[in-house]
Amino acid sequence: MTNVLETVLGPLTLKNPILVASGTFGYGVEYSDVMDISSIGGISVKGISLQPRPGNPPPRMCETPSGMLNSIGLANVGFDVFVTRMMPKLREQGATVIANAYGTSADEFAELCRKFNDVEGIAAIEVNISCPNVKSGGIHFGVSGKPAAEVTEAVRKATALPVIVKLSPEAFDIKEVARAVEAAGADSVSLINTFRGMSIDVNTRKPRLGVGFGGLSGPAVRPLAVRMVYDVAQAVRIPIIGMGGITCLRDVLEFFLAGASAVQVGTANFSNPTVAVELVRDLEQYCERNGVKPFDLVGKVQMP
Ligand SMILES: Cc1cc2nc3c(=O)[nH]c(=O)nc-3n(C[C@H](O)[C@H](O)[C@H](O)COP(=O)(O)O)c2cc1C
Repeated sequence: MTNVLETVLGPLTLKNPILVASGTFGYGVEYSDVMDISSIGGISVKGISLQPRPGNPPPRMCETPSGMLNSIGLANVGFDVFVTRMMPKLREQGATVIANAYGTSADEFAELCRKFNDVEGIAAIEVNISCPNVKSGGIHFGVSGKPAAEVTEAVRKATALPVIVKLSPEAFDIKEVARAVEAAGADSVSLINTFRGMSIDVNTRKPRLGVGFGGLSGPAVRPLAVRMVYDVAQAVRIPIIGMGGITCLRDVLEFFLAGASAVQVGTANFSNPTVAVELVRDLEQYCERNGVKPFDLVGKVQMP
């Protein structure tokens, strides 16, 4: 039987369009006891930097209405440990690995991506120019077209791997940023990263996160994410990977109709670690029942 869920994102072909979002699924290996991590379309691993990072002071997560705030600050083991300790296990398990890259300058991004060229088993690089929880880099590159294009161009020159640029919902004009990274050589875009938010404990009168602010994710952001996917789909020709508050098949279909060719599931992994495999199964059943492929739905929202 042909795989109805096979998904082509420019130079990247995935077995299905259900991926897990960076920072919400560890390095992937942690989940191999509870599910077959090769059965999902891809794992965008926790953001990796050249050197290890301790991240921000705790508390780094708190629950909010229909979502959560996080201020992890890109805590990660760094490139070397990821490659020597996690990659062998990910290869052994047959996972489709997307390296989520973080740098504080275009040169640093390029250096990191160049190093990924020599790592066996990396399917693509997701360039994070949209993290709101760091003092430098991250969202500072993603708010407007020029810095976003500079990073993309540097990465494009450094690697032949498929380049996915992850966009910020806090860009002044997300369509402009999407067009700029497309022109600079991105193979696809993923969106959205989190929104900067704040929650205050009224008893202590202190913010509920250690650094005061954090990125908002989960179902609370979904309508905003769907709208942005729709907007970006009108602006670029490269494929879009949509995310923001996906919890069930209906949400996945909504993103396809808005213009996404694949999706990532993030915050939902915390309440249901096997949600992504369940979505693959649900999507396959939906496609068989309706005689469609996911691609047939992409961008097919009927606007008034
Ligand atoms: C705890 C946490 C950590 C995250 N870390 C990263 C990261 O390292 N790199 C990145 O590009 N996005 C990171 N994100 C953003 C998610 O990948 C995703 O873009 C966002 O949460 C929206 O999807 P969701 O509503 O399904 O969670 C993180 C999100 C959360 C909740």
